[in-house]
Amino acid sequence: MNKILFLFIILTSCKDESLKIDLKKAKDLIFSSQENIIVLDVRSKQEWAETGIIKKSVLKNPYDKDFFLFVEKLDRKKTYFVICHSGGRSSRVAYKMKQMNFNVFDVADGIVGWIKEDYPLVVYQDIKSLGKKVARSLKKELSYNLKQAFMRGGNLHAIKYCNINAMSITSSLAKKYNVKIKRVSDKARNSLNIAKGEELKYIKLFKARLKNNVTIGAMMNKEGTSMYIPIVTNNQCLKCHGDRKQDLTKDVLEKIKQLYPKDRALGYKVNELRGIFHISTLK
Ligand code: HEC
Repeated sequence: MNKILFLFIILTSCKDESLKIDLKKAKDLIFSSQENIIVLDVRSKQEWAETGIIKKSVLKNPYDKDFFLFVEKLDRKKTYFVICHSGGRSSRVAYKMKQMNFNVFDVADGIVGWIKEDYPLVVYQDIKSLGKKVARSLKKELSYNLKQAFMRGGNLHAIKYCNINAMSITSSLAKKYNVKIKRVSDKARNSLNIAKGEELKYIKLFKARLKNNVTIGAMMNKEGTSMYIPIVTNNQCLKCHGDRKQDLTKDVLEKIKQLYPKDRALGYKVNELRGIFHISTLK
C-alpha cells in the first residue's frame, strides 16, 4: 500500500472507545506470562530508542509502507495490546485491526502513562544494524585469521582457526552490544553448531534464494529479536569444506575426521550456503 493511501486511511479512521484497556489491567495481563498476549508498539525507531520498550513487544512503525502487510500476517489466534506514545496512533491502529478481525485492545495512556506508573521497560536495540556490524567484524577477523594460519603452517595448521568461539573478538562483541552470537549450520562439522528451530527456517530460505540467483542478505525475525546473516562459501573455504578428493589434502581430511568424527561439512562448492550467523538480543 502506498504511503499516501495509508495516511488517508489512518487519518480518516474513527476511534472505538470500547477497545480501550486500563493501563494497570494491561500491565497485569502483559506480565501474566500468557503466551497469547502480544504487545504491538506502533511508535518510531527514535521513540523506541528514547524511552525503551516493553519486554518482548512487537515493534512496527505505522508509517512504514508495509505496515498493513505486516499486520495482515500476524497470528489471529493471539490478542494484541497496541501501544504508542500517548494513545493517538494506537487507537487508530487498534480500530483498523478490529475491522481486520483481530482480538485487539488499545492501551490508551501509551508509553507516557506506562512511564508515569514506573512500569518496567527494557533497552531497545536496533538488532538489524547491530547484527550486520557484528557479522561483518567476525567475517573479516575469521578470514584474516585463516590466511595468517595458512601462511604460518599451511592447511593442517589452519584447521583450528575456523572457529568463532575461539576468537576473543566474539566475546568482546557480544559483551559490548549485549547480544548472543552463534554460527550454525544444517550440515555442521562441530555438533555444537547444529542449527535448530527458527535457524533452520532461515537456512532453507537463504538456500532457496541462492539457488534462484537472488541476492541474499541479513534478515530479521518477525519479533525483531533475532538477526540471521548468511555465510556463503568462497574458494578459501573449499580446502576444508569442499570435495574430499578434489579439494582436501589427505592430511587435512584425516585430521578433520579425527577431530570431528560426526563431520557433515564436506562436499561444498563455491557460492553455497555454508551456514548462518544468528545474533540475538539478550533480554
Ligand atoms: C583450514 C580449514 C578450514 C577452512 C579453510 C574453513 N573452515 Fe570452516 N570450519 C573448519 C572447522 C575445523 C570447523 C569446526 C569449528 C568448530 O569446532 O567450531 C569449521 C566450522 C565452520 C562453520 C560452523 C558450522 C560447522 O560446520 O561447525 C562455518 C559456518 C564455517 N566453518 C564456514 C566456513 C567458511 C565460510 C569458510 C571460508 C571462508 C571456511 N569455513 C573455511 C575448518 C575450516
